[in-house]
Amino acid sequence: MIKMVSVVGARPQFVKLSPLARALAAPPKKKPAIRHLILHTGQHYDENMSRVFFDEPMIPRPAFDLGVGSGSHARQTGEMLVGIERVLLEARPDVVLVYGDTNSTLAGALAAAKLGIRLAHVEAGLRSYNRAMPEEINREVTDRVSDFLFCPTRTAVENLKREGFRTVSSGACIKAGGREPSAVNVGDIMYDSVLFNLNLAGKKSRIIEDLGLEPPYYLVTVHRAESTDNPGNLENIISALGRVAKEGMRVVFPVHPRTRKVIEKNSPLRALARNLLLIDPLPYLDMLWLEKNASLILTDSGGVQKEAYWLRIPCLTLRNETEWPETIEAGANKLVGYEVRQILKAVRSLRPIKKKLPEVFGNGRTAEKIVKILSSVQYNRTT
Ligand code: UD1
Repeated sequence: MIKMVSVVGARPQFVKLSPLARALAAPPKKKPAIRHLILHTGQHYDENMSRVFFDEPMIPRPAFDLGVGSGSHARQTGEMLVGIERVLLEARPDVVLVYGDTNSTLAGALAAAKLGIRLAHVEAGLRSYNRAMPEEINREVTDRVSDFLFCPTRTAVENLKREGFRTVSSGACIKAGGREPSAVNVGDIMYDSVLFNLNLAGKKSRIIEDLGLEPPYYLVTVHRAESTDNPGNLENIISALGRVAKEGMRVVFPVHPRTRKVIEKNSPLRALARNLLLIDPLPYLDMLWLEKNASLILTDSGGVQKEAYWLRIPCLTLRNETEWPETIEAGANKLVGYEVRQILKAVRSLRPIKKKLPEVFGNGRTAEKIVKILSSVQYNRTT
């Protein structure tokens, strides 16, 4: 029996965990049984940011819930570290899985690495080369202490190669068994999730009717500290979107709690936003269905940029750099930064995506590949 613990805590991690939890529940034949336990740090705690993801047919309930909540980076990460260490000492897993680039990823990685437990990083090797983003620091540190670096793209593998990591095929990764840190391209796990859930979203979601929407409409998400905490950036974004809405386009904006706090405290911002359709964060299936039917997506989220690509919806990224350069190279995404004029110019030159987009994110069977590797490894307990 192989014992695994997945550490998650923030919304995008629930989406990444879901295909893996499904695949881990049915490991390949002739492989040892797997016991997979989920540890929720509690970084995201609002009903719409957390519980709804465990209510949909997505993920089993967490075995451990630390309820850490929000705080400064040090406090949030520190409290997680203490809680995760306690759980890992009790659960004694063979391998810990962490996902993406949040403070929960960092805390899970440090706790496991210091206990000598093998560590798998799902979505390894991404870089924005901008250390002003807390996510970039989380990525760099997590990769550095990981044993299995599961990369979503060739670019991610190349990034790690430049940093001196060994890059290998799946077979060589199994052979190394986590004793030598290995970077392997397994594809993007969020693609698994989109392929699995899109039909379901079409059958179950009533979000378009509930919002009284009729395509065409634009869909917006903004939550990064870079966008919300830099004076002027959020104001510029909302001002540009407000102008688009005033010209007659419906602009739907599911608002992340971080962004809502900033808007609520700032009355000029509230006024600029009055023509936008501001709604609460959405469950995954509703979000997917809103994305699928949008004419344009504007976002600072990494996951939403990729979902736009897979759904062939043109995307404008409200940032100056992206970890997903493939989407830009394919002409499906454009970096527009935070200037009103730049954003409006890009919106006005919008073209639908007609051509086939290259399959740069694997084939939607990333979870299977990860499970195959992790279940073929010989583990010796070190804790
Ligand atoms: C975190 C991740 C980011 C990821 C994002 C997805 C870090 C450093 N950042 O950012 O990489 O893209 O999640 O959503 O880990 N809040 C609530 N309710 C919630 C969750 C958060 O009100 O359920 C509030 C917190 O109190 C805090 C703010 O939102 O004031 C930010 O939350 P935090 O967890 O620090 O980071 P995110 O912005 O969500």
